Amino acid sequence: MAQSNNRGKAVSSTGQAMVRMTIGIVVLVVLTALLFFVAPEGFYPWAKAIHILAVISWMAGMLYLPRLFVYHVDAEKGSVQSETFKVMERRLLRGIINPAMIVTWVFGLWLAWKIFGFQGGWLHAKIGLVLLLSAVHGYLAGAVRKFAEDRNEKPARHWRIVNEIPTLLMIAIVILVVVKPF
Ligand code: HEM
Repeated sequence: MAQSNNRGKAVSSTGQAMVRMTIGIVVLVVLTALLFFVAPEGFYPWAKAIHILAVISWMAGMLYLPRLFVYHVDAEKGSVQSETFKVMERRLLRGIINPAMIVTWVFGLWLAWKIFGFQGGWLHAKIGLVLLLSAVHGYLAGAVRKFAEDRNEKPARHWRIVNEIPTLLMIAIVILVVVKPF
């Protein structure tokens, strides 16, 4: 009974998180469109600022989620602790990581097209690494589903190692875009 109450609360809080996320995205799209039409010449720095803010949010989530898995592995299946981890993981994925990835891609591709015409070795390498990062994102999203269904079989050590992959990709991506070595 208590557990089904907890599940009910989790579902309704996920619904609220989705509503907040949708409102956030709509507000961002409207403000961006306004800026684009009112001052197109000043759009580049704003697009870059929004891109960097989205990157920070995406990376924060991508670094935190596997860390949650490390602790979740040790929580007994069906325990309050395990159910709490499920809610935290789902909210982090749907409320932050997914929308942040979409905004990063949209503004990153706009910058790549408008400012650089998709030219430059550094840009091609960067997009390649971001595709890899997006694949890791997909893998972590699949893991959230498995943990939610109590089907994870990977040990804590696996998630500790996975935790390092976004870090390494982030370092390489930032060096490529700032230093532009080739
Ligand atoms: C989703 C695909 C992405 C594309 C197509 C993309 C493309 C770009 C482009 C064209 C710029 C402008 C560079 C300039 O003005 O010199 C930029 C800026 C930047 N991007 Fe991305 N990006 C993507 C994702 C990412 C990711 C995942 C990260 C970090 C992990 C990142 C970090 C940055 C940073 C830090 C800047 C500012 C660089 C500066 O002003 O010197 N980007 N991005």
